[in-house]
Amino acid sequence: MYRTSLLVLVIFISLARLCSSRTNVLFLIADDMRPQIGAYEGKHFPAVVSPKMHTPSIDVLASRSLLLERSYCQLAICAPSRSSLLTGRRPDTTRVYEIGPYFREVGGNFTTLPQYFKMNGYLSVGMGKVFHPGEPSGWDDPVSWSDPYFSGKTNFESFNSTWSAVPDELLIDNPLIDEQIANQAIATMQRLATDARSGKQPFFLAVGFRKPHLPFVFPESFLKYYPVSTVKLPSNPYIPVNMPDAAWFDYPRAQKTRDVRAFNVTGESIQLCQIFWHFSKKAYYCSVSWRLIL
Ligand SMILES: *[C@@H]1O[C@H](CO)[C@@H](O)[C@H](O)[C@H]1NC(C)=O
Ligand SMILES: *[C@@H]1O[C@H](CO)[C@@H](O)[C@H](O)[C@H]1NC(C)=O
Ligand SMILES: *[C@@H]1O[C@H](CO)[C@@H](O)[C@H](O)[C@H]1NC(C)=O
Repeated sequence: MYRTSLLVLVIFISLARLCSSRTNVLFLIADDMRPQIGAYEGKHFPAVVSPKMHTPSIDVLASRSLLLERSYCQLAICAPSRSSLLTGRRPDTTRVYEIGPYFREVGGNFTTLPQYFKMNGYLSVGMGKVFHPGEPSGWDDPVSWSDPYFSGKTNFESFNSTWSAVPDELLIDNPLIDEQIANQAIATMQRLATDARSGKQPFFLAVGFRKPHLPFVFPESFLKYYPVSTVKLPSNPYIPVNMPDAAWFDYPRAQKTRDVRAFNVTGESIQLCQIFWHFSKKAYYCSVSWRLIL
């Protein structure tokens, strides 16, 4: 029914070379990323980025980085992709194919990326959506982290709607969860950088963002980047021929929202009305722009 290609975006930034030559690491992760940022425009890419995306900060970072031009997602859903990336194993090994299972219970007691840094003398600090959150998924995998985990709290998110443009003034006192996470990351980095300069442990800081995952909740002012005429419906609405069953995900969360339920979809159907598609896509683009601008 609702199908976002998922591409995990990972950015490593070396912040400082310590005297001991151990580099601090900032690891940023967001999911449900299509190749839909300005940095993917250009002759190396087979598909045109349309509409033109407003993602100036990530584009500048990409221009100074190693940008992987042919990257593929493991499964088009968040928890399996995250488990796979963080353990360095395919979903066939982690046995996480959907939201819920905890890889240590269903796949194996694998060493994760943050855990590996921790085992090698780093202070490993995590916040936001790095592992899939929640109890069944293993409570953000405590063994991976040296410090208590910061999750933030959701504001303006509900099952009422797949998307919501929140008036900017309402966000001043109640920031969206990703902004709380970004603020926490900045404060933590300032604290850890001081420690690092004083010769304490090097750090691995993992900062995970919720958007552009559903529901698409973003400040209303971002609507201006995607005028109605720029948002096009998919030219081919059909499932690829011979697609493996595991690649299809009939988004249960989207199906629970009131706006989708009103269409009486069964999970097999992609026959949502065109207006719905149109606004969903626009809201997705706004979420990408908002998330990647901070
Ligand atoms: C998993 O491995 C960690 C060390 O990496 C160990 O502390 C823990 O006890 C193991 N858990 C199980 C269930 O074997
Ligand atoms: C969701 O809808 C219900 C019923 O209309 C309403 O009471 C509730 O406040 C809504 N929640 C949000 C976050 O908008
Ligand atoms: C969905 O089902 C309800 C109840 O059967 C019906 O009233 C409504 O018109 C249906 N909506 C659509 C979009 O078919």
